[in-house]
Amino acid sequence: MIIDTQSIKKVIGKSVPDRGQLIMILQNIQQEFHYLPKESIKAVSEYLNIPQSTVYSAATFYKSFSLIPRGENIIKVCKGTACHVKGADLIIDQLDAALGIRPGQTTEDMKYTIEVVNCVGACAMAPVMIVNNKYFGEVKCNRAARIAKKG
Ligand code: FES
Repeated sequence: MIIDTQSIKKVIGKSVPDRGQLIMILQNIQQEFHYLPKESIKAVSEYLNIPQSTVYSAATFYKSFSLIPRGENIIKVCKGTACHVKGADLIIDQLDAALGIRPGQTTEDMKYTIEVVNCVGACAMAPVMIVNNKYFGEVKCNRAARIAKKG
């Protein structure tokens, strides 16, 4: 996907130019591009007539925003205590074998990103994987790659 300033401005323009819309606009950009391209900071700043530092602060304050390119599919592996004990590392190894990436990395085709998260509150079904916000519990490591690809 080619991300140019025009396509970013198109997404921004769907919201009213009110500074109260800042988070909503950042969410819309991230939904469209899977992350916040650096050009988006300036474009949002100009659209809302607020300093770039304000936009940047919001973009870095919320963990759900990423300034680094991410894949179309976000695979989260819980590494809280219960999931760790029940084999989260084996799941990560299986994903690495299948996709060739470790946590924090994205496949070259920009299809998958693996992230590690802390306890997501579903310890009873540990180990837990979350693919595009869909939860999978009691994940057997030999099924991790299939789950990741089918989501
Ligand atoms: S430790 Fe993974 S859900 Fe709680």
